Amino acid sequence: MSGIRLAIVGAGKMGGAVLQGALRAEVLQPDEIGIYHPNPRRLAELAERYGVAALDDDALHHAERVLLAVKPQSFEGVAPLVAQRNASFLSLMAGVTARTIARRVGSQRVIRAMPNLGASLGISATALAALPEATAEDRSMARTLFGAVGRVYEVREDLFDAFTGLAGSGPAFVAVVAEALADGGVRAGLDRDTARDLARQVLLATSRLLETKRPGELKDEVASAGGTAIAGIRALERHRLRFALIDAVEQATERAAALSEEDGA
Ligand SMILES: NC(=O)c1ccc[n+]([C@@H]2O[C@H](COP(=O)([O-])OP(=O)(O)OC[C@H]3O[C@@H](n4cnc5c(N)ncnc54)[C@H](OP(=O)(O)O)[C@@H]3O)[C@@H](O)[C@H]2O)c1
Repeated sequence: MSGIRLAIVGAGKMGGAVLQGALRAEVLQPDEIGIYHPNPRRLAELAERYGVAALDDDALHHAERVLLAVKPQSFEGVAPLVAQRNASFLSLMAGVTARTIARRVGSQRVIRAMPNLGASLGISATALAALPEATAEDRSMARTLFGAVGRVYEVREDLFDAFTGLAGSGPAFVAVVAEALADGGVRAGLDRDTARDLARQVLLATSRLLETKRPGELKDEVASAGGTAIAGIRALERHRLRFALIDAVEQATERAAALSEEDGA
């Protein structure tokens, strides 16, 4: 157990993405990571898949740094297994507050992280919020770990719901926009595959360009006087696209807050 620097509880989609990102960026070596799963067969399978150590209950109980990446509803069962006064905890469970985690695991050294879908591609937008009791080393480890799967934003924990509303749910909103753009192309006579491809290329180019320009600047550059883009923008304004997207983020934020309350966090 001595060489293990991070115990991962819940190496599923998100836990697995963080694990792979950490290995890829060589933030941690395979022999510094351990995985826990209550089912021994599944545990062996996961350890083999990622080439890291399989932790038994005892090893997990003594882990000094734990990444909680199970579903929030599994946390009740996991908490007694990891509870340890001096350990440091990193959680990416949506809707479970840092104080709730601290209460259940018996340690105040808790940092919450909220990654998004981009993590599996190394382009996550991850929010981090630490309890004041987390040490400088805990914070630095969290920044490094999540820095391996994308960009890190240190925010107040009460902004996690807003972060979820925009960065967490945003990919779904943009996917709807992509689908609708493709529908527009089909309506204008393009075949479906071409239209879908064009919509994707447009989003790709736009996101690259937005790395160096503000959205308004890009819009102004494309929309020349009396041209096609400004005609389309007029239509977007008539149909209140801006209002729809602002409202989508707001509704998603409110839903994230309501779900946290339901979980009693
Ligand atoms: N996916 C996202 O985009 C995203 C974004 C932000 C935050 N999150 C948070 O990340 C967490 C995990 O989500 P996910 O999408 O990665 O779900 P997931 O793919 O279902 O991963 C959960 C993993 O935990 C394992 N597991 C279940 N019970 C366990 C236990 N008692 N001990 C150890 N491992 C256990 C599951 O194993 P089995 O496969 O055998 O069931 C599974 O591999 C959630 O709390 C979610 O709120 C997810």
